[in-house]
Amino acid sequence: MKIIHLSDPHIYTDKIHGIDPVSRFKKALDHILQNHNDADLFVITGDITDLGDKESYQLFIKIIQDADLPAKLDPKLIIGNHDNREEFKKNFPLVQEDENGFIQYFTDIENKRFIFIDTNLINTHSGHYCDDRQVWLKKILNETSIDQDVYIFMHHNPLALVIEESDEIGLKQKEEFKKILLNNNKNIKHIFFGHQHITSSGSYCGITFSSPRSTWSPLIPNFSNQYRLGTANTDTNYNIAIIRPDATIIHTEDFLKTEVNWFK
Ligand SMILES: [Fe+2]
Ligand SMILES: [Fe+2]
Repeated sequence: MKIIHLSDPHIYTDKIHGIDPVSRFKKALDHILQNHNDADLFVITGDITDLGDKESYQLFIKIIQDADLPAKLDPKLIIGNHDNREEFKKNFPLVQEDENGFIQYFTDIENKRFIFIDTNLINTHSGHYCDDRQVWLKKILNETSIDQDVYIFMHHNPLALVIEESDEIGLKQKEEFKKILLNNNKNIKHIFFGHQHITSSGSYCGITFSSPRSTWSPLIPNFSNQYRLGTANTDTNYNIAIIRPDATIIHTEDFLKTEVNWFK
């Protein structure tokens, strides 16, 4: 199985900080079409738009329609801190929500369950996973059969990627989320997230994880003991996950790369 994991396109009708999010997102989609149209699943893990406004969501919808992706690559969407849940629902009425109105749902493919969760809280950039959302996730995990492999997609990083002091905008309910992971780490095989706009990978609670950069603006890892964001002359990317019964492999696709040369 092949999964495309793209994050943080931050679609907006103009450039943001001098970079056009639309042209970069279109290039990413074009790269996907050229190289990965055999994939089984395409997920965009939030910050779909920069401001969560109708115009940007409509622009995103038009870009996806124009890209003419294969039906099974119609992207699964979750929301990030830059999105607006209510505006999202108006523009994507077919995306499922849980009984409390959060954008949380799952889909089963083969022996795998893909769970998409909502960590947005209006007017804050940090991630929030309230009791109601936790109850939903625990229920879905409880209903998962023992032979199903589970993959979680979320916007915010569930763990501090360097140290807690510098992780001002990560998930706030880390301890509660950690308990859920520890109780289910036999079934949960991988966590996919975005938000920090940096490429990361590792394991947490016995579960591997990965994140790609944003397709709009890549950031650089922060190894200081304070919160800060930084850019550099680095490339944007999206990730490709290859899942086999005995392996999970994460590749990074720097889709702006040029002069590709396969040796003959
Ligand atoms: Fe973002
Ligand atoms: Fe974000």
